[in-house]
Amino acid sequence: MRNVITLSVFAGVLAVAGSGQAQDKVNFGKQIWPFMKASCVDCHKPPFTDERGRKRKPKADLVITNKADFLKGGEDGAVIVAGDPVKSPFLQRTLLPLDHDDHMPPEGKADQWTDEQKKLFEQWIKEGADFGDWSNDPEVDKKG
Ligand code: HEC
Repeated sequence: MRNVITLSVFAGVLAVAGSGQAQDKVNFGKQIWPFMKASCVDCHKPPFTDERGRKRKPKADLVITNKADFLKGGEDGAVIVAGDPVKSPFLQRTLLPLDHDDHMPPEGKADQWTDEQKKLFEQWIKEGADFGDWSNDPEVDKKG
């Protein structure tokens, strides 16, 4: 009997500890966008004219600087599938070996995502790829 009581008390403690760990959903604007911006925006922003006067287009037609274009995806279609990290090339490409042709960002061209950032991005997709109140980043979401 004493063991049973001890066990159930222990289970109760575990349950409380478990619920205490329930976290808020990942906040796209605060937690994801900053490292997406740092690593991916240079090549995936609206068309612009570079310092030598050359017209530059977003690579693979993929613009990520606003929600609508990001959801539309690139020339191969959607790059994120809410709830399904495996079907989301935007994450999968960062997970490929660094020297793989499809790896993003291309080696040496921008900061690589850390493992922690990849996990956070995966978590965000699993939770439904919710953008919250983020709709674009005016600083980079402009043609010019
Ligand atoms: C230095 C430029 C550069 C940077 C930085 C860059 N990309 Fe790309 N990206 C490309 C090029 C070039 C292509 C087209 C060739 C290809 O498909 O591999 C591409 C294509 C893609 C595609 C395929 C889209 C489609 O529909 O075909 C995805 C997804 C992608 N990039 C994700 C990312 C992510 C995620 C990051 C940041 C972690 C990133 N890219 C950073 C150059 C870049």
